[in-house]
Amino acid sequence: MKKIELIIRPEKLEPLKKILSKNEYSGLTVMSAMGCGHQKGYSEEFKKLGMEINLLPKLYVMTVILDEDLDDILTEICEKLSTGQVGDGKIFITNVDDVMRIRTGEHGESIL
Ligand SMILES: Nc1ncnc2c1ncn2[C@@H]1O[C@H](COP(=O)(O)OP(=O)(O)OP(=O)(O)O)[C@@H](O)[C@H]1O
Ligand SMILES: [Mg+2]
Repeated sequence: MKKIELIIRPEKLEPLKKILSKNEYSGLTVMSAMGCGHQKGYSEEFKKLGMEINLLPKLYVMTVILDEDLDDILTEICEKLSTGQVGDGKIFITNVDDVMRIRTGEHGESIL
């Protein structure tokens, strides 16, 4: 299993939910976030050396998916969530050893 943690533009949550649901995933966690990347929260033309960091509103989305679905989902995310402008966000991908459903105590990828 892979955990994908995405920092996205707030308006891109709906397209992301569509991609996950099309791939038959319904479990996800969403949090409001503030952040900045390479441009320190400014558009490229206003970025100057030594400027303070300006945090912009983003959404943090975490979901765990099967290894075999990762590549397709990442491709679809790139297609649907990229605007071509700076600030589209990033995806951090990590391996997940196990998952347990608290209600039943079941483990393993079949419970995703
Ligand atoms: N290295 C990082 N670690 C943690 N969060 C990050 C990192 N880089 C970006 N983020 C988060 O992603 C959001 C969007 O980042 P952003 O898309 O601006 O990255 P970037 O590297 O500057 O790419 P671009 O040049 O396309 O803007 C940030 O507001 C921040 O919340
Ligand atoms: Mg940026």
